[in-house]
Amino acid sequence: MESSMLAPPWKQPLLRSLARCLQQSGASAGFMQLATVNADSGLPECRTVGFRGFLLDTADTRRCVQSSLNASETAAASAISASSTGVMRFTSDARTNKVRTMLQRPVGELCWYHAATVEQYRLSVYMFPIFAPGDPRQPDLTVLHSLSPELAASSGHATVTEQLYEERERMWHEATSDSIRASLAWPPPGQTIDPALAADSDWMLERFAPRLLTGDEAAERTAYQNFVLVLAMPWRVDRVELAVTPFRRTEWRVGQHGLGNGPGADPESAMREAGCVDAWTMVHVNP
Ligand SMILES: Cc1cc2nc3c(=O)[nH]c(=O)nc-3n(C[C@H](O)[C@H](O)[C@H](O)COP(=O)(O)O)c2cc1C
Repeated sequence: MESSMLAPPWKQPLLRSLARCLQQSGASAGFMQLATVNADSGLPECRTVGFRGFLLDTADTRRCVQSSLNASETAAASAISASSTGVMRFTSDARTNKVRTMLQRPVGELCWYHAATVEQYRLSVYMFPIFAPGDPRQPDLTVLHSLSPELAASSGHATVTEQLYEERERMWHEATSDSIRASLAWPPPGQTIDPALAADSDWMLERFAPRLLTGDEAAERTAYQNFVLVLAMPWRVDRVELAVTPFRRTEWRVGQHGLGNGPGADPESAMREAGCVDAWTMVHVNP
């Protein structure tokens, strides 16, 4: 079977819309909002993260998305076939609240406004952080082999985990700039800065970045340990289009699990089914 045929049905409209946004606004179109519920306080937390393509993308996301720009079915299909998975990637720092939270409660919602097409995508996701090999915080990743046809080809815990560590390694090289690596070696995010130091806005760069940029091995190792690749598996996708009349809202659901955030929602069971393209159904709902 063609791998493009295995892509979840919401991926093509999302990529098409993203392609137009990238053309209109450049890289800033790739920022999404991630909402989680802090497991300790029970309070909502929302922040911006950068979309880093889909799991096992071989091509640069931007190139892949750009090739769907002419909106022909063939071009869109070939962009999608660059990776058939619906598993989205972003990267983070292991010391942030969001990563701590997803270890206790691995669910969240991504909200992505596509300005060029006046569309909103809200994706209910189940998240898997991938830490550095050997990190004791690493949650079990074997379930991911059933979420992606490419991973299903590998058998057994060792192979799947190894493949995902390779993906992390690739993202470490592709998705980190000098300044991102410097921030991963700084003191923990959210920690109060000594007021005397805070007055000097260059202090962090002066103290940490030069060491990284000149190849300080200890700092580079700290940054590497703190770098986390997050895999976000959508199990419900809600698209709202306001550039059409009448407004349109479409929901893609997995099996019986597309019950929004209502009492019947079961993200873990839904996530386990979401890798199977046949499990998805589409419904139109009132905007
Ligand atoms: C444009 C922009 C892009 C960002 N991208 C990321 C990202 O990809 N990953 C990330 O962890 N934080 C990113 N951040 C920072 C987060 O929004 C957030 O401030 C930080 O990660 C701490 O969040 P937390 O304490 O809720 O985990 C970005 C911020 C901005 C303004």
